[in-house]
Amino acid sequence: MGENSTLDNLLTEHRTFAPSAEFAAHAVADASLYERASEDRLAYWAERSRGALTWATDFTQVLDDSNAPFYRWFADGKLNAAYNALDRHVEAGNGDRVALIFEGEPGDTATYTYAELTTAVKQAANAFAGLGVGAGDRVAVYLPMVPEAVITMLACARLGAVHSVVFGGFSADALRSRIDDAEAKLVVTADGTWRRAKPSPLKPAVDAALEAPGHTVSTVLVVKRNAEPTNWVEGRDQWWHEVVPNASPEHEAEAFESEHPLFILYTSGTTGKPKGILHTTGGYLTQTAVTHHDTFDLKPETDVYWCTADVGWITGHSYITYAPLVNGSTVLLYEGTMDTPDRGRWWDLVQRHKVTIMYTAPTAIRTAMKWGREVPDSYDLSTLRVLGSVGEPINPEAWMWYRDVIGANAGAGTDGQPGPRKENPAPIVDTWWQTETGAHMIAPLPGVTATKPGSAQVAVPGITVDVVDEAGVSVGNGEGGYLVIRDPWPSMLRGIWGDPERFKETYWSRFETMYFAGDGAKKDEDGDIWLLGRVDDVMNVSGHRLSTTEIESALVSHDAVAEAAVVGAKDETTGEAVVAFVILRGADAEWPEDISEQLRLHVGKEIGPIAKPKAVFVVPELPKTRSGKIMRRLLKDVAEGRPAGDASTLADTTVMDQIAATMRG
Ligand code: PRX
Repeated sequence: MGENSTLDNLLTEHRTFAPSAEFAAHAVADASLYERASEDRLAYWAERSRGALTWATDFTQVLDDSNAPFYRWFADGKLNAAYNALDRHVEAGNGDRVALIFEGEPGDTATYTYAELTTAVKQAANAFAGLGVGAGDRVAVYLPMVPEAVITMLACARLGAVHSVVFGGFSADALRSRIDDAEAKLVVTADGTWRRAKPSPLKPAVDAALEAPGHTVSTVLVVKRNAEPTNWVEGRDQWWHEVVPNASPEHEAEAFESEHPLFILYTSGTTGKPKGILHTTGGYLTQTAVTHHDTFDLKPETDVYWCTADVGWITGHSYITYAPLVNGSTVLLYEGTMDTPDRGRWWDLVQRHKVTIMYTAPTAIRTAMKWGREVPDSYDLSTLRVLGSVGEPINPEAWMWYRDVIGANAGAGTDGQPGPRKENPAPIVDTWWQTETGAHMIAPLPGVTATKPGSAQVAVPGITVDVVDEAGVSVGNGEGGYLVIRDPWPSMLRGIWGDPERFKETYWSRFETMYFAGDGAKKDEDGDIWLLGRVDDVMNVSGHRLSTTEIESALVSHDAVAEAAVVGAKDETTGEAVVAFVILRGADAEWPEDISEQLRLHVGKEIGPIAKPKAVFVVPELPKTRSGKIMRRLLKDVAEGRPAGDASTLADTTVMDQIAATMRG
């Protein structure tokens, strides 16, 4: 991890911000949680689970570790996820509380109370059942950020069907491979969405994905969103608005076993093939709900909670759909981009909807920083009281800006001047976790922890994380190593869909009894944890996880490319950026001049626009060791504009000079 130059910057950061006395006095989570959890971890989780959820059949065993690493939580308990997110709030007399506030990019809005959302989900469940979907069946979801995305996920959960949400930024090919891997029966999509005030289609990708025969899909259910003309396959395609609103609003939720599969979500690993991460019901709902409550100091009666992630990612699953609704909170759902119609859109949303808790990614904060503080300063953000961060390490500058500019805003400024400031700015909670962990693992408690800019700091109560060396031995304070999770946790992944061996190999082989997260980390002098980024071939671009191998495979699938190497290069806004180096087949001159641009587009088509390299460099050779391994470290140096480091182990030590020469030319 000596290559990580952010490390030195991070460790010069010594500021701390203790919770204000006022915040601490009213916080929903106090330090006793750590004590209770460390006294008896399993009893702690049992108690929290019973507190957060309504079990149709109570469990008698908390953790079953008899077939590790295939752990089971609360295994003999039964519950229904949708009942927990919806019906029980209505039964408790909170049917009139707002569950979802939707705002579309064009400015259209819709509001669902808990009673209305419950009815909508019951109708969708009946409609899906009418299309032949039953417990255990897989449903692919390829939707924009519209209420139907949340409704579809919960309708699946209600039926015991397993949803597989595919982010709308993925291509037709990526969608097809996920449909095939999970053998989905139904696809729920939309004609399209809005992006920067223009209609942006989705359905054509579904059509392209299903063009080649041999798939398992019998129905495509289409939400009409942007009303653009849409290709229609008779017998396969059906409009949501013709099917769902006509379905019965009565539906009894059946209780399923705690370990009943809830969803599959594909994520990039170190090989080309995405992994279908499997989450189940009881443990997942327990830890997502508990962390959402504790980390964000949730007061569901009064808070308006906004998570800016897309439902296509784990953050959207856990902290837009499941935890917030299980906790009975009011959730804002926004369809569009940060800068439509202008750069004030997010702050306008906060101001108008009186958002109290905001959860976003460092890349968005850095973008807002780049646009200048005058933009948020001219809005009233005084309602914000907790600010969350997720997806990548947050650099101390962005953390401080988030606190000072967003968290301390006590009213709109005028004439380019900031408005009044809060004496006690909203605390910032940096949350480390992964698709695989399902829920927060490392995060401060805002009423307890003295926060440090740039560090996620401490494991949440009931979770045991550590930083270890190559041999798996815990490192001391001030030292770095690999982040591991020592004990199984309720919301842990239960496997990789259809591939138990890969599950064991990826997460449980490096340190056997500990979960290997794939992140580098450091303990500071106080033992607080600082995340340092991935130690494997996974990149993090704007908080999106991308695999170098997957992009390399996409590049070599193009006729022009003989070999490709991809690296994540440091980028001021997106954290990392994809930079590719390719060797062309035959002579370079045989290929069109814009071949680099064509290759970028090719990656976009194969994987999706999010994976498009920022730059594609045509080079005569790639730096390889004598055993043929590409030394990406040297390419990273080049991509980040540094002189290449030690190249003495290369088979041909002149390669880096050759590369440098072509890049200058
Ligand atoms: O490298 C870590 C980084 O994102 C990875 C997980 O990506 P994904 O499964 O897509 O989930 C992202 C949202 C939970 C991790 O292995 N990561 C996530 N949160 C943080 C982070 N790195 C540093 N600090 C964080 N708060």
